[in-house]
Amino acid sequence: MATTLHTPAPTTNKHLIRWVEKMADLTQPDRIHWCDGSQQEYDALCDQLEANGTFTRLNQQLWPGCFLARSDPRDVARVEERTFICSLSKDAAGPTNNWEDPFKMRRKLKQLFKGCMRGRTMYVLPFSMGPVGGPMSRLGVQLTDSAYAVVNMRIMCRIGEPVYREIEKDTQRVVPCMHSVGMPLVNGEKDVPWPCNDEKYIVHFPETREIWSYGSGYGGNALLGKKCFALRIASNIARDECWMAEHMLIVGLESPTGEKTYVAGAFPSSCGKTNFAMMVPPKGMEGWKVWTVGDDIAWIKPDANGHLRGINPETGFFGVAPGTSAKTNPNAMATLRKNTIFTNVAETMDGGVWWEGMTDEPPAECLDWRGERWTPQIGRVTGRTAAHPNGRFTAPASQCPVIDSEWQNPEGVPISAFLFGGRRSTTMPLIYQAFNWSAGVYIGATMGSETTAAAAGALGHVRRDPMAMLPFCGYHMGDYFRHWIKMQRSITRTPRIFHVNWFRKDANGKFLWPGFSENMRILRWIVDRVRGRAQGMETPIGWIPYYEDIDWNGLDMPEEKFNELQRVDRALWRKEVISHEELFIALHDHLPPEMIYERELLICRL
Ligand code: OXD
Ligand code: MN
Repeated sequence: MATTLHTPAPTTNKHLIRWVEKMADLTQPDRIHWCDGSQQEYDALCDQLEANGTFTRLNQQLWPGCFLARSDPRDVARVEERTFICSLSKDAAGPTNNWEDPFKMRRKLKQLFKGCMRGRTMYVLPFSMGPVGGPMSRLGVQLTDSAYAVVNMRIMCRIGEPVYREIEKDTQRVVPCMHSVGMPLVNGEKDVPWPCNDEKYIVHFPETREIWSYGSGYGGNALLGKKCFALRIASNIARDECWMAEHMLIVGLESPTGEKTYVAGAFPSSCGKTNFAMMVPPKGMEGWKVWTVGDDIAWIKPDANGHLRGINPETGFFGVAPGTSAKTNPNAMATLRKNTIFTNVAETMDGGVWWEGMTDEPPAECLDWRGERWTPQIGRVTGRTAAHPNGRFTAPASQCPVIDSEWQNPEGVPISAFLFGGRRSTTMPLIYQAFNWSAGVYIGATMGSETTAAAAGALGHVRRDPMAMLPFCGYHMGDYFRHWIKMQRSITRTPRIFHVNWFRKDANGKFLWPGFSENMRILRWIVDRVRGRAQGMETPIGWIPYYEDIDWNGLDMPEEKFNELQRVDRALWRKEVISHEELFIALHDHLPPEMIYERELLICRL
């Protein structure tokens, strides 16, 4: 064997040791480091990243424990077109996923990974999604040549010593996660601050529960516990074991009397999930509190009584920085004041960070996300932003001022309602409630969001993103709908399902709803519906609140404006239903009949 194990394996688990040796034979790293997950290890890796130029240590008076990373401009986001679900049959992956024959893909990966860690350290990073040892938690081991991935993973999930002990119990299958930035250092070649490769592969093998990621060091491509494991692989496990792995936030809504109601919500990427998860109730609703359990992923399972309970399998927030401010999300701003890794945001002249939307006035001068001098004037002339639109903060959830007292409960919190919502300037009312579970599944399955300037394609075009899982469901979307329908059979207390839309516009293109804190008024109606206390009015699409049912204390909302927000325009809805067909045709041979029936019923009511 060309490689030596430089640190002794801190585990007796033979499978793990053998796999690490086998992968080291393949990738040929210079060193192997078994991560213990300690603070000393984290600090040493941060020092090393700083020495390599990957990290800039920020002004420690202003930003204690914080670092800034600048990625290679060719490696700034998840790469959906390079993401593959390599199930044994193409049919199992479905038309919404990229598929490649797993045998061919394995051959390709073997080529790519051969010697890919030469000159580098291979980190062995055991991790637990969910509290270590919890009944809903799952284990993985990521082998990576990226110290950046290791330090980010330490914020995003539970890693290290306790996880080795859990693996040794041998009570569950551990998900192997191979990761390389794909840039070996040969003949003493000097490293670059952000190693990566133009060729990228983010590959999932659902049957063998394996992840192989090559060529990228960024976000969901490299922090394999997140989208790859907790959604794409976990959605497969969940289907087989009768639970749900969802792209959802979880919040606890506490009334002035101390009654707490937990809801989970699915919104497509960049629809404000992190802001929603940390909402501050508005003026006039004093006494209400919103507690954060999670902002991105929920694992949800029926307990012994058939009540759904959900955990946030993560321990950190990997949030989009631009647009985050003391006004839009003061709790996120408080969370990221210390011990946070910033990636691709601007660096201020006093060694702090800035991004578009953080303050009303941009700094007079800063270094942009590429490290080049930026002034508002340069921004105007070149059209360049100071921060990359997908610039991120990786911040510990424990630092969030409104983190829920139950957020680490291994049994999860009781889920009383599901919310679906997208960005829709027309058609969709501010709020409506599904008639029942299958109608709610239909609402989630057909949810759509308008493309914004940030995404390629026609502006304002509605893209269907079922349950916000389009890029994250690790199997056929039609089978996923069937799984949702089937879940009800294991539930004795069915959660209510709602659809919200904060983005409806008037005839002049102006937003009708102020959003942000004011959304709490809608959540209050949801809580009251769940608890059987609020009225609802029947419409062709579901139940909606009467004007009097909403708590308007502190907000001037004329009844006519509310009616406009809530209007169910039958002509627009007929068009809407026709547009659902496009997705259904694509999925037709796996579509559960309930989806067809629900559509027919909706058409009849319209
Ligand atoms: C995310 C996403 O990064 O959904 O959370 O894209
Ligand atoms: Mn997400």
